[in-house]
Amino acid sequence: MRIKTLRFLFLFFLFLCSHLTFVLSWKKEEFRTCQQTPFCKRARSRIPGSSSLIATDVTISDGDLTAKLTPKSEPQAKPLILTLSVHQHGILRLKIDEDPSLSPPKKRFEVPDVVVPEFTSSKLWLPRLSVEDNGLASSVYLSDGHTAVIRHDPFELFVRDDNSGQRVISLNSHGLFDFEQLKEKSEDDNWEETFRSHTDRRPYGPQSISFDVSFYGADFVYGIPERATSLALRPTRGPNVEESEPYRLFNLDVFEYIHDSPFGLYGSIPFMVSHGKTRGSSGFFWLNAAEMQIDVLAPGWEAESAESHIALPSHRIDTFWMSEAGVVDTFFFIGPSPKDVLQQYTAVTGTPAMPQMFSIAYHQCRWNYRDEEDVEHVDSKFDELDIPYDVLWLDIEHTNGKRYFTWDRTLFPHPEEMQKKLADKGRHMVTIVDPHIKRDDDFYLHKEALKKGYYVKDSSGKDFDGWCWPGSSSYPDTLNPEIRSWWADKFSYQNYVGSTPSLYIWNDMNEPSVFNGPEVTMPRDALHYGGVEHREVHNAYGYYFHMATADGLVKRGDGNDRPFVLSRALFAGSQRYGAVWTGDNTAEWDHLRVSIPMILTLGLTGMSFSGADVGGFFGNPEPELLVRWYQLGAYYPFFRGHAHHDTKRREPWLFGERNTELIKDAIHVRYALLPYFYTLFREANTTGVPVVRPLWMEFPSDEATFSNDEAFMVGSSLLVQGIYTERAKHASVYLPGKESWYDLRTGTVYKGGVTYKLEVTEESIPAFQRAGTIVARKDRFRRSSTQMANDPYTLVIALNSSQAAEGELYIDDGSSFKFLQGAYIHRRFIFSNGKLISIDLAPASGSNRHYSSDAFIERIILLGQASGSKSALIEPSNQKIDIELGPLWFLRARAPAVVTVRKPNVRVAEDWTITVI
Ligand code: NOJ
Repeated sequence: MRIKTLRFLFLFFLFLCSHLTFVLSWKKEEFRTCQQTPFCKRARSRIPGSSSLIATDVTISDGDLTAKLTPKSEPQAKPLILTLSVHQHGILRLKIDEDPSLSPPKKRFEVPDVVVPEFTSSKLWLPRLSVEDNGLASSVYLSDGHTAVIRHDPFELFVRDDNSGQRVISLNSHGLFDFEQLKEKSEDDNWEETFRSHTDRRPYGPQSISFDVSFYGADFVYGIPERATSLALRPTRGPNVEESEPYRLFNLDVFEYIHDSPFGLYGSIPFMVSHGKTRGSSGFFWLNAAEMQIDVLAPGWEAESAESHIALPSHRIDTFWMSEAGVVDTFFFIGPSPKDVLQQYTAVTGTPAMPQMFSIAYHQCRWNYRDEEDVEHVDSKFDELDIPYDVLWLDIEHTNGKRYFTWDRTLFPHPEEMQKKLADKGRHMVTIVDPHIKRDDDFYLHKEALKKGYYVKDSSGKDFDGWCWPGSSSYPDTLNPEIRSWWADKFSYQNYVGSTPSLYIWNDMNEPSVFNGPEVTMPRDALHYGGVEHREVHNAYGYYFHMATADGLVKRGDGNDRPFVLSRALFAGSQRYGAVWTGDNTAEWDHLRVSIPMILTLGLTGMSFSGADVGGFFGNPEPELLVRWYQLGAYYPFFRGHAHHDTKRREPWLFGERNTELIKDAIHVRYALLPYFYTLFREANTTGVPVVRPLWMEFPSDEATFSNDEAFMVGSSLLVQGIYTERAKHASVYLPGKESWYDLRTGTVYKGGVTYKLEVTEESIPAFQRAGTIVARKDRFRRSSTQMANDPYTLVIALNSSQAAEGELYIDDGSSFKFLQGAYIHRRFIFSNGKLISIDLAPASGSNRHYSSDAFIERIILLGQASGSKSALIEPSNQKIDIELGPLWFLRARAPAVVTVRKPNVRVAEDWTITVI
């Protein structure tokens, strides 16, 4: 009885907390600083040159370079084992671990199932070692034009560009390498650490690793999400730098995060990209799932502490990486272009999954849509106002007492029927499934997990029991493949009662969030499969959970239906399993602004399918902010409106007719551009290059773009500039490159390489099509993307100074995996010398090609075409049609008339030419 009362009080307290949202804000003191984190504090106090490691026994073994590393001052110390392997496309992998032959107390954790199997088989067999620098260094071939060099004393690794003789990237050039080896506890050892009321046992003593990495020819470094801060990472230490926290990678449920902080949020990708005008890009990835802290060091930082021991080129950026546990398993990417780096990184961790078409359209979410009537009302309102949307979401309140996979049958008595009604309009539903399982003896999922021993254990070996939405909860140990397979089976139609084929899943709180845990998460000494401590796997917990859920949807659809799973926590490789969003942002202009660097950073680190809650999760946006958010969100790869349960309802029609029209226009722009977006998702799926990109990814030698994170590219054809202030009358927009840009809405042409002060209206945010590109659109608005599947296309040709342009269009069935067998259409459109041709890019034709489409091209718009031309000749049909002036858009706002070829009616799947005469 007493326990129940306590539980009730605790739940009531949580309830109060969640309802006091608007008076409380980020509770800084709940989270550790570097000073309060012993490994970070120790590492940060090290001085350059303090690690005099020597590499000995450098040799080639099994096609790898191997060596032993020993501290110069302690030749008797246990050596570390170094392995260096070379992979195709200029990728170098460096591993350093304890020597297994010296029987360490346990095997340190190496993160499984992140590196894709194809990468392992891309290893190049190193035939020999070359001796350099009179025997002071050894080197191996890395790629044509690049060599990997190991200096022996003191130990240093660097990659050299053989043409210029310059360094590209290096490790331990500042002698900061440190590796704390595991120890058996003796009676005198007191390794416990306490933070607030939590004590961490640390049974193997301190086990952290730290080292410095330098990027040469770099002007800026980027990456290492997730945090709300600028795209170009500001230095955290050094002269003239206000001493700040390092960038933290530790997946946490941070309540009301602030919009500019190095503090880590829900996800962690330990991957950094450098970029500079002279050399281009390089990248560094540390596959390690323990807490990590990273300093970006301002030039001259080492002079503050001690002398550097090697003369290094000054044009470089130094960084310092610290992790609480794990091993050194690092990857060096030589670029040299930013897109090359993405290709190299995704060769290791996999390219983003190809999403279903519906999932890249607009999603309507709220915590919570109350009941079936509410769902029906919202759904029919979209129809009444002719606003397309594809997915309606149900948050935690739809369940029976936060028991996921169940329904509150009073509020949702007919879930199948509800989903069917949506599906009849081509719409889908998403329900939430979190990892915390209610410890309720009558709940089948808990009973099964308990019986099978499938929960994460606490340090004493009992099931870990923490508080989350349902109260007392335990967490499936999805590090274990057997448990992942069990979890995946829970999504079958039979097991998930009330689910239908149009239902997809949202994984939230998977950092994991534990309300009464240290820093709102699981204790570091909790235990996983194989005796792995939670500290070692923490940042990947959500990744394995996301993976198991996505696998469940694949199994459910017998391998014929691509999964859609949105996850809040993320790790390197999450791109293979679905989408992510930036969590609980706030309805403020600054949060609208920071959504762009956050999404760009995720894209730069492989996670292309991401978005931010449109409107802001906490608080009530002013209508103007909401409208601007829709206008920007329409270009996010993942486009979803969402809000906290305490906020006022904010469906698009609740802010007066004018604002409804503006929001509708923004959503219409996204729907019109769906063919273009889908083509970009396919590009990401094959190359790793993200859907939305920093300007410098497209204009790598234009310095003016390097720290611009207010504007971004959607693919290589569109540039979008957000409006981040209230009542803005003007926007300053930099349009890079030598070619011109066409205003997306008006067709007005602007010269490249110029910063413009443009007038802005409430109707749209500035967006431009780059001259020399062709963008495919679908201009007929329907209820959902599914209903647009066979609609005809519009091609918008933006001519460059040579009166030429090019673009691509990718089409498949939008939902199955048949595209993997070649069931798709991939065309390249080329316009030059007055002639537009459509070329087949799909590799296989004939029997391998299972996908065809009768869709045709109903309109061709020529921006930059002199209006003298009279007609167009279509071949092979040999038909002649008049060229006329037609509207650039069919949006509510009046669009200007532009040169148009109407109804050429050529099939998108076929070869044809259209000549302007
Ligand atoms: C936290 C998530 O970030 C938010 O989007 C969701 O609405 C709540 N949990 C409730 O499930």
